[in-house]
Amino acid sequence: MKLGLIGTGNMSRSLGILWAEQGHEVFWGSRDPNKAKSVAEFAGHNTQGGTNDEAAEFGEVIFYSVRGVMPSTVLSSTNSLTNKVILDCNNREIPEGFAYGPLMAESLAEQLAADIPNAHVVKAFNTMAQEVLELSPQPLKEHQVSVYICGDDPGARQTAMTLASGIGFNPIDCGPLRSARMLETLGDFIRFMIMGMELGPYATISVNVLPEASQQRLGGRQSGS
Ligand SMILES: NC(=O)c1ccc[n+]([C@@H]2O[C@H](COP(=O)([O-])OP(=O)(O)OC[C@H]3O[C@@H](n4cnc5c(N)ncnc54)[C@H](OP(=O)(O)O)[C@@H]3O)[C@@H](O)[C@H]2O)c1
Repeated sequence: MKLGLIGTGNMSRSLGILWAEQGHEVFWGSRDPNKAKSVAEFAGHNTQGGTNDEAAEFGEVIFYSVRGVMPSTVLSSTNSLTNKVILDCNNREIPEGFAYGPLMAESLAEQLAADIPNAHVVKAFNTMAQEVLELSPQPLKEHQVSVYICGDDPGARQTAMTLASGIGFNPIDCGPLRSARMLETLGDFIRFMIMGMELGPYATISVNVLPEASQQRLGGRQSGS
């Protein structure tokens, strides 16, 4: 696949390198094209760097890791994103002392989708710290580390799941983009585990489907009254 990554920060650099290792064509974009070129030089694997506009043109799939600034501001035109899959890993800022207000009425992913209605936004990769990416691929496979994926276009979700499983994750299809409200809240909780509970950046939450109990010695699930 041809992947365009907007921004050269921690998540973008790390995932871009992992996808390049898997044989995908990778192009990083930056506000400073020289910065993107040096990330590509560091990454090797015939990766490239340039402007954000060039990355948006290049990719069939776009990784968007700019928090709180919309593509209509970052790019000179969002026409280059038409019908493309946009992977959004963003989480909101952590308030002082993790003292969150009421749960969100709209996710960052839905705000992103409203800015680029011509594209297929998918929430993905927001629930693990960069350090977890350093474990790709084998330890991730061994520990069945989940990546939660949601988006309104089933084909775009499938693309994200393929990219996630290619680097060792266990992708979990969470349905429509509205689920990003839960996934971003899960991202909040995971960061609380990492920093607030001081479990460190390798703390993560994965889906674990247990084997069925061989007998219902507690009486089993009964209908509620
Ligand atoms: N780090 C993690 O462990 C982690 C894990 C899960 C989710 N996330 C989420 O992923 C997002 C990115 O995190 P990160 O750690 O990768 O951040 P980061 O290292 O700060 O990277 C963000 C990149 O976005 C670009 N950028 C920043 N402000 C911009 C602006 N005003 N206009 C255009 N581009 C801008 C910059 O790239 P250029 O300088 O190249 O333009 C910057 O390097 C955040 O929402 C974060 O909550 C992070």
